Amino acid sequence: MEAKFEELIEGFITNKIGISTSFLSLPLAAALLQNIHKLNRDSRMERAGVGNGSVKDKTQKIRGDKTCWIDSKSKNIAEMEFLDMIKEFMGHLNKTCFTGVNSCEFHYAMYDEGAFYSRHKDQFRNDYNRKFSIIGYLNEDWQVSDGGQLIIHREDEEDQEILPNNQKAVFFQSDVLEHQVAVANRVRMSVTGWLKRS
Ligand code: OGA
Ligand code: MN
Repeated sequence: MEAKFEELIEGFITNKIGISTSFLSLPLAAALLQNIHKLNRDSRMERAGVGNGSVKDKTQKIRGDKTCWIDSKSKNIAEMEFLDMIKEFMGHLNKTCFTGVNSCEFHYAMYDEGAFYSRHKDQFRNDYNRKFSIIGYLNEDWQVSDGGQLIIHREDEEDQEILPNNQKAVFFQSDVLEHQVAVANRVRMSVTGWLKRS
């Protein structure tokens, strides 16, 4: 486990974004994916958007994903395993980088075919406690032609494109680095969340 944690932290320190290609085990990724399918069947994946009326309309033009929060006290085996792993990662991060993170929140995200998320920074202003983002991807056999790349924009440097391949995790400060999700040409699933210090 520590090797995966180090991969994320090392990439974050040297390149502002850590990537671990097999952060989630195959069974865990498969179980989390099944959870999203079930939530979607039960109409519990909801179009992302804040506010009502025109604010919501505007948000929905910017992002087309559907989300559902994971209960921090969930008794679902896969969710418990995932959150335990994140807690272990937070402990490792605090020990090695003195970050002082002490809680987290995660949601599932689903982009239907044709959905995207325009260039943005995550708004941490309405939650100062959010310090880092982690996204874990749940998409088997994802090809470049499937689109849906996480594109990281940097000043004076070429954009970095990251495919949302199954088991992969990325770790970065999404309120600092501008990023977007390219149009997904097939359904694109993830678990997305924030590490917090309160
Ligand atoms: C987000 C986001 C990127 C991704 O949910 O804010 O930028 O790769 N997601 O899913
Ligand atoms: Mn974002």
